[in-house]
Amino acid sequence: MDYRNGHRRMALFLVCLAVLISLSCATRPSISRQKLQVDKHLKRLNKSPIKTIESPDGDIIDCVPISQQPAFDHPFLKDHKIQTRPSYHPEGLFDDNKVSKGPKQRSNLMTQLFHMNGKCSEGSIPIRRTKKEDVLRASSVKRYGKKKHRSIPKPRSADPDLINQSGHQHAIAYVEGDKYYGAKATINVWEPKIQQPNEFSLSQIWVLGGSFGEDLNSIEAGWQVSPDLYGDNNTRLFTYWTSDAYQATGCYNLLCSGFIQVNSEVAMGASISPVSAFRNSQYDISILVWKDPKEGHWWMQFGNDYVLGYWPSFLFSYLADSASMIEWGGEVVNSEPDGQHTATQMGSGRFPEEGFGKASYFRNIHVVDSTNNLKSPKELGTFTEQSNCYDVQTGNNEDWGHYFYYGGPGRNPNCP
Ligand SMILES: *[C@@H]1O[C@H](CO)[C@@H](O)[C@H](O)[C@H]1NC(C)=O
Ligand SMILES: *[C@@H]1O[C@H](CO)[C@@H](O)[C@H](O)[C@H]1NC(C)=O
Repeated sequence: MDYRNGHRRMALFLVCLAVLISLSCATRPSISRQKLQVDKHLKRLNKSPIKTIESPDGDIIDCVPISQQPAFDHPFLKDHKIQTRPSYHPEGLFDDNKVSKGPKQRSNLMTQLFHMNGKCSEGSIPIRRTKKEDVLRASSVKRYGKKKHRSIPKPRSADPDLINQSGHQHAIAYVEGDKYYGAKATINVWEPKIQQPNEFSLSQIWVLGGSFGEDLNSIEAGWQVSPDLYGDNNTRLFTYWTSDAYQATGCYNLLCSGFIQVNSEVAMGASISPVSAFRNSQYDISILVWKDPKEGHWWMQFGNDYVLGYWPSFLFSYLADSASMIEWGGEVVNSEPDGQHTATQMGSGRFPEEGFGKASYFRNIHVVDSTNNLKSPKELGTFTEQSNCYDVQTGNNEDWGHYFYYGGPGRNPNCP
């Protein structure tokens, strides 16, 4: 080797080393350090696909071999044997298609938008690819895909100020005081308007374990509009879990390791289409979450046909046994833009009094009891922080069983 050339290379190497050291020693993360972090995170989240589908809404859906999904990055799941199906379904499973419907109410016709351009094959699962922009919109790489702390609705809170301070507003129905092993509901799907990109509007089921302390366990599923998380205003199917009140554990969808997906057709975080229109066609989705009495894992089913996958019971403390509370309803973030209440809508953006075709609903509300049976709850409690902004009204009839209308426009003359 030419001596001088080697010398030059050595010098170059030292310069590079110096640059690298100064980069990693910088107290504030520099742009390039952040870029490295983002790239590393993207590499962790986005697994090598065997096929890629471009959705009309701009999403990229990767078909990833089932054994290579993010769940298996979890140290506890290294030797986990995938359950391809639950050992048991709850008894008395209610078929929503049997419900007599008004001419304009359609269930389960819903598809995910990306199906227009293809599907994943058996043995692989569709995963919404995380783009660089998605991560950059988060407050930090670490917080990407996570809910903010203290966003849980706690009915009859001892500290009402805390509820209002958190900026999250709810209109929910709930049951408590028993051991629950699952929950089900059929949820009307809308596309509420979001005033600020850092706000969101969602409609979901919460399966909760523990008191509302730092170790609260929660499994959540429903639909949401969240510009920060997804970069648009589309209504999307989502799940969430945490075992420490939204602190270090858990995330939306498959954005961390935990949930094990087995379904090859439905992508979490993908857009739902079509959505309901005011005084026009109504669409709804049904969601069932239940604890498999044999293996103890918490499963999720979407519609009558899609068993999506499961949360292994070891992810949780309280929920490893049972849930102590179930909630159904809406949540929005009120960031008080311009010092006033946000105009971000919940549900359809209409108050419950307006009823079918105008206000959003949850119908056929059930819980799963200790004998693995779907039961109508004895009584539904309701909770809302400011009923002049978002409200909830329960009812009960033969077709819909326990149901409620919920939501509202946010800012209005009575909610300044
Ligand atoms: C989302 O909706 C808001 C208004 O509700 C609008 O200002 C914004 O441009 C929309 N964002 C996208 C990405 O379409
Ligand atoms: C939240 O604040 C509003 C307005 O200050 C108040 O009317 C409402 O009662 C509060 N809610 C709770 C649960 O304290």
